[in-house]
Amino acid sequence: MNRPRNIVVLTGAGISAESGIETFRAADGLWAQHRIEDVCTPGGFRRNPGLVQGFYDMRRAALAGVVPNAAHEALALLDAEWPGEFLLVTQNVDDLHDRAGSKRLLHMHGELKRALCTACGAASPWDAPLSNSPPCPRCGATRLRPDIVWFEEMPYHMDAIDAALSSCDLFVSIGTSGAVYPAAGFVSQARRAGAATLELNLDPSAGTPLFGEARHGPASVLVPAWVDELLG
Ligand code: APR
Repeated sequence: MNRPRNIVVLTGAGISAESGIETFRAADGLWAQHRIEDVCTPGGFRRNPGLVQGFYDMRRAALAGVVPNAAHEALALLDAEWPGEFLLVTQNVDDLHDRAGSKRLLHMHGELKRALCTACGAASPWDAPLSNSPPCPRCGATRLRPDIVWFEEMPYHMDAIDAALSSCDLFVSIGTSGAVYPAAGFVSQARRAGAATLELNLDPSAGTPLFGEARHGPASVLVPAWVDELLG
């Protein structure tokens, strides 16, 4: 692989697994315990807002007990040291990349530690339960929901992500099953731009055949080793 200049990294739940955060599609993952249509769709929120608020209150509270792992730390180091363009796009709604120090970071599926007001549309930093209908910091309405991108909703920052993919020369996917679009299509977008592509994942994923190179193992081992290779 020639030395890249512009790098785009995509992460999924697998990068946070070794920090103790459940993934979605593991045999005992979140989607084995909860129905997506109940807790991760606008219809589910309309039908039973209390169930949805409680689901995200539980996930937000769990962040207090976890810390970034070596993979998050390595990506934050790469962010700080890389001289060329660098963008970390995460599907994750946890704050572990933020806490590790990543700056050139976009949360395309939103963040557990933000709340969205369905009355005025304001998104605010948030670290408390939403189940008790707290008021919006901007308009005061008690109509806050988690600032999470649910299925059937448009992910955040897609213009910036598409621009980065069209000009990158290396795309790396870490800890994602490649099950959900548009993220699952990023590797093809990068290939069309002529980028080299690398998958770092515990197991082969749905997208593995699309990558120029794939390394399988735990992110806490693969990611620091890859960053060391890159920074020399
Ligand atoms: N190191 C590296 N990869 C790991 C590890 C680990 N320690 N543990 C698990 N993985 C891999 C699994 O092999 C799997 O391919 O992480 C991936 C997790 O896949 P999913 O559970 O499907 O999570 P993700 O790909 O992030 O889901 C994408 O789906 O439900 C929606 O919005 C949700 O953002 C999420 C999206």
